[in-house]
Amino acid sequence: MRLIATARAQEGSELGRDVLVGRPDGVPLLRAGVRVTARYRELLLKAGISAIYVEDEDSAGIAVEPVVDDATRAIATRAVSSAYRSARDAVAAGKPLEAEAVASLEDIVARIMRQVDSSGGVALALADLASADAYTFQHSIDVCAVGILIGQRYYRTNGWTDYKGERHFTKLDERLSTLGLGLLLHDIGKLAVPLGILNKPGKPTPEEWTIMKTHPRAGIDLLEGSQWSPLVKAVVLRHHERWNGCGYPDGRVGEQIHQMARIAAVADVYDAITSERMYAAARPAHDGVRAILEGAGTLFDPDVVDAFARVVAPYPPGTTVELTDGRTGIVVSVPDAALDRPVVRVLDGPDGPCEISLLLESGIAIAGWHSHVGAEPAAALA
Ligand SMILES: [Fe+2]
Repeated sequence: MRLIATARAQEGSELGRDVLVGRPDGVPLLRAGVRVTARYRELLLKAGISAIYVEDEDSAGIAVEPVVDDATRAIATRAVSSAYRSARDAVAAGKPLEAEAVASLEDIVARIMRQVDSSGGVALALADLASADAYTFQHSIDVCAVGILIGQRYYRTNGWTDYKGERHFTKLDERLSTLGLGLLLHDIGKLAVPLGILNKPGKPTPEEWTIMKTHPRAGIDLLEGSQWSPLVKAVVLRHHERWNGCGYPDGRVGEQIHQMARIAAVADVYDAITSERMYAAARPAHDGVRAILEGAGTLFDPDVVDAFARVVAPYPPGTTVELTDGRTGIVVSVPDAALDRPVVRVLDGPDGPCEISLLLESGIAIAGWHSHVGAEPAAALA
């Protein structure tokens, strides 16, 4: 299976993965296994899906296994959409959100944590293909998965810090599950932002931007009440704060920003860049990884970026790459030891297709990977 531009999909090629749209029941627009026709291709492009996975001869045997499997994603989509529905009612009634309304989210976090464990703690494929109108729900689920992955690596190395500044290496699962709940709810305050602003194609005006920036505070207003963990609220309120103080709502700096929110910031920005959004097409994984690496020490906590770089692959299986020796190929697998030196199936070699391990062939690399050109400025993301 491999990822290709939708516009270039050949008729008759087989769709490799489900394509999701913003249905609250999680039912996909097209299911894996269907044959691409001219009409389907048009439907996909109209839905804003710029790339799809296809099964073809060149990519036979290449498996793309997302961290969150289809069954969990469908259950999670229903649970998140139901929590958001309750939150929408709460906004309309001017009341805080009842904790019971999102009780099922704790089960979702537990499920996602089990999948992160079985993935070996590395994200080889994260986001499923989803249209911009599916962004709210799918973004919450993907940010939860990647945030737990980063958090697991980060806590194992750095521990978690309590309010007295003491480090701990115990009860990491408890910590991760609270982080996961915060991540599922991180943008819940966007329900208080008018839909006309939220779903506007193109860049928001300065006035619209000001309203957009109220969503972290609106989020904790929704979670008002003692039943919510202050850690969940910290993620919701602080996920747009930035390490150097350029974030919002309060421009907090460095360790003044809660550790969990520093993890959420990286997960949120990475997933935003690599997802279809109303005002930007999905960028490839390596653009998302590069933007995070470039932000280390300025926008993001360098220790969190370090953990991120060890768990998110810039070129996941199924990605087409150009090598520094001019050959092109498809990524087959990614070694844990060096996520940017995958095994590549070269298609245009002199002796026909062959597989090479960039981990063993130290003289060959992926062309352009060292360069820092073309990444979207992470600071611009809402
Ligand atoms: Fe946000």
